[in-house]
Amino acid sequence: MAKNTVLSARTQKEENHKITMVTAYDYSTAKLMDQAGVNMILVGDSLGNVMLGYEDTISVTMEDMIHHGAAVARGAKDAMVVIDMPFMSYQTSVYDAVVNAGRLMKEGRGNAVKLEGGVEVCPQIKAIVAAGIPVCAHLGLTPQSINAFGGHKVQGKTEAAAKKLIADAKAVQEAGAFAVVLECVPAKLAEHITKELEIPTIGIGAGAGCDGQVLVYQDLLGMFSDFTPKFVKRFANVGELMTEGVKKYIEEVENGTFPAKEHEYAIDEDIIGRLY
Ligand code: KIV
Repeated sequence: MAKNTVLSARTQKEENHKITMVTAYDYSTAKLMDQAGVNMILVGDSLGNVMLGYEDTISVTMEDMIHHGAAVARGAKDAMVVIDMPFMSYQTSVYDAVVNAGRLMKEGRGNAVKLEGGVEVCPQIKAIVAAGIPVCAHLGLTPQSINAFGGHKVQGKTEAAAKKLIADAKAVQEAGAFAVVLECVPAKLAEHITKELEIPTIGIGAGAGCDGQVLVYQDLLGMFSDFTPKFVKRFANVGELMTEGVKKYIEEVENGTFPAKEHEYAIDEDIIGRLY
């Protein structure tokens, strides 16, 4: 398979070939996701929740994103690596946005960055794109604004909110975004936006009418139980397998069956004899 790029994402939309994106935050997981054949790996700031145990994504830093982004980039051969810009790394100014997007590319080795917001962050999107960095936008329930939303709520349900979402989607496309994530948006509205845009939409809790789908890997593999949104489907129960595996390990260490002879390194018996 060839490397996935902004161009292949656009071609997939044109050819009605769904785009697959999953999150990853480390080398080994990225390698597995890449080998499974996903088009894009998102180093999401959801790492604050699922990797670092925070309640939200607010505390995630540039250093966190660079550290995890670089690990993922080392494991991803064909998948396009998109790294989230953390809270306050781009909202503060166009200058900060370009500098921090640059760091995610140079130090984090991403292929693109993702940031949250519509019309209000279009100057940032334009400047980052002008610097040669692909930008994926993120609209709907944008977790960095969770305090402003007052909780995890579906977005775009009133006529005014739906119209604002459509205007934001058109604005980020106009600003140069190569794709847009739609999170927690009514399915029919997401489908409408998808038809209106030339760039691909990638949905999470936005129905089947989007050009692609993204999920947090711990959600799709059953490895995170603190909070499970309605839109999550569990495709495997890796969490249960891990617990079972670790329980067997504990049992065998405790009863002495592990390590067995085949796990040991040998030494000349004479040498051992001389040690006593
Ligand atoms: O941080 C993340 O994982 C995300 C996805 C939920 C789209 O932004």
